[in-house]
Amino acid sequence: MSNTLSGQTAVVVGGSSGIGKATAAQLNNLGASVTIVGRSQERLDAAQADIGDVAVASVDCTDEAAAAAFFEGLNSLDHLVITIAASASLGPFSEVPVDGLRETFDGRFWPYLIVMHHGAKKLSDQGSLTLVTGASAIAATPGASALAAVNGALEGMIKTLAVEMAPTRVNAVAPGLTDTEAWSRIPDKIREGMFADSSASTPAGRIGQPEDVAAAVTSCITNGFLTGLALPCDGGKRLV
Ligand SMILES: NC(=O)c1ccc[n+]([C@@H]2O[C@H](COP(=O)([O-])OP(=O)(O)OC[C@H]3O[C@@H](n4cnc5c(N)ncnc54)[C@H](OP(=O)(O)O)[C@@H]3O)[C@@H](O)[C@H]2O)c1
Repeated sequence: MSNTLSGQTAVVVGGSSGIGKATAAQLNNLGASVTIVGRSQERLDAAQADIGDVAVASVDCTDEAAAAAFFEGLNSLDHLVITIAASASLGPFSEVPVDGLRETFDGRFWPYLIVMHHGAKKLSDQGSLTLVTGASAIAATPGASALAAVNGALEGMIKTLAVEMAPTRVNAVAPGLTDTEAWSRIPDKIREGMFADSSASTPAGRIGQPEDVAAAVTSCITNGFLTGLALPCDGGKRLV
């Protein structure tokens, strides 16, 4: 453990699973006082048992009043990471119903904005905001146009917010396919085939692990000269 973030506070919204949980563990190892946020108390408790010394808060961030109350209750906030996942409507654009496109924004875009809006009021000048977006913001991802729209919309805000919120730093990290609990909902055989296909066509020769993406997020937090950046963390997949 290093003490790089000793005396600093961090909130990881989506910290009970996958990329968020790995990020919370890395920030905790760097000495930050970390709070992880998610909806399920059971998942929060399980993550806390795995990571160790983190606080937990059960908040559904689609609920603006609940998110606002959570941030108002914080004494201080240096680093805010948002890594919320929700189901998305997938399929060829013309076949995804407009309601499905709308639901993708309701589950993925608006919770990010709600958290950013209320969290930003608490962030310290020395602090940072980091959004976990997705490679679909910059690379063609057939069947995922709704996700591309959400991720593109979030990344489109980064440069403006980095200037508006300065000296607080604002960045995004855009993962490629990453082996997290989010994929556990699909049958094992299909998932394994998808991971193998993606590994074969990725320059790094593998898909991502939560710790890979967490390390990119942690760099955005600890490098005080990084701001206004949308950092791909995809093993080079966007290049091929
Ligand atoms: N895994 C990938 O291949 C991949 C690729 C590209 C981009 N990404 C992006 O990376 C981010 C994290 O993905 P992941 O794979 O780490 O997902 P994950 O393992 O499913 O974790 C998602 C986290 O978000 C929390 N969450 C969901 N809805 C919430 C809400 N309304 N309020 C508060 N917390 C909420 C979940 O807890 P509860 O369910 O208990 O609320 C959980 O802690 C997402 O934005 C995803 O789109 C992932």
